[in-house]
Amino acid sequence: MRRFRIRSGGVARSLVEVAYRPLLVTKSFMNKIVSPAQSWIRLAIDSLPSDLLVLRKTYPLGHLMCFQDYVAGPIQRDEALLLYALVKTVDPKTIVEFGFDRGHSAINFLKAMSSGSRLYSYDISDVSMRLSRKIHDKRFRFIFKSQTDFEYSDVDNRLVDLVFFDASHDFHLNVATFEKVKRCLSERALIIVHDTGAWYGKLKGLRTPEGYFVDGKARAGYIHRPDERRFVNYIRANMEGFDQIHLHSTSKFRHGLTVLQRNVDALPL
Ligand SMILES: C[S@@+](CC[C@H](N)C(=O)[O-])C[C@H]1O[C@@H](n2cnc3c(N)ncnc32)[C@H](O)[C@@H]1O
Repeated sequence: MRRFRIRSGGVARSLVEVAYRPLLVTKSFMNKIVSPAQSWIRLAIDSLPSDLLVLRKTYPLGHLMCFQDYVAGPIQRDEALLLYALVKTVDPKTIVEFGFDRGHSAINFLKAMSSGSRLYSYDISDVSMRLSRKIHDKRFRFIFKSQTDFEYSDVDNRLVDLVFFDASHDFHLNVATFEKVKRCLSERALIIVHDTGAWYGKLKGLRTPEGYFVDGKARAGYIHRPDERRFVNYIRANMEGFDQIHLHSTSKFRHGLTVLQRNVDALPL
């Protein structure tokens, strides 16, 4: 897998931006003179390279080149795109991540987060701790602790708006962690649990130590992290206060995510 470039080369980028500047000016001028009725012209204009530059600035997604879809461990590229869009949309001010590993999900969160936000990422691996030091971003803090040792003071006593579970893949540890973190959630916090889906399609030898095919049939899907599924099922059965939605696929190789949210009062009108 390609490595992240935490700091990208500024000179080459500046040259490209200078080259495209006339196009940006042209586009801005065209946008002023084209009426909404002529929106088809706008569509044509939107395919200008200058638009790509604007999009690239608003949605810097170059880091996704370091992600893969056929991979076990980190979030998949498609999933990264989903989480990126979610964070852009909801703008959580405090994110807690359990499971940093090599930083794929952390970098993805940071790319989408706004300036006043914070990401607290937990991991127990020495390699993760070393890699985390390469992230020079004051919104980020690596916490070298087990997920079950979460404390409110770790996150500077900030209410948590988004929790990402992707660490131990152990039912009991997840439940214990959830019991702790639950008390620190903001009203409409999102809890996202990775690896709750089943793998479909050709697995090309990919297996997990605890995984199995549903009913022993390959076409029924391979449950790669049974404890993550048990965990969300446990919350469903024992904690009425949370709704959940599964973002899974049966047509492609997908780890799958489950999104939970506290079932609070109806939206005020
Ligand atoms: C699947 S990887 C995380 C991948 C990462 N979220 C990403 O998408 O790039 C799981 C990580 O959880 C860590 N881990 C395992 N048990 C843990 C625990 N009890 N507390 C915190 N981290 C743990 C492992 O060291 C490993 O780095």
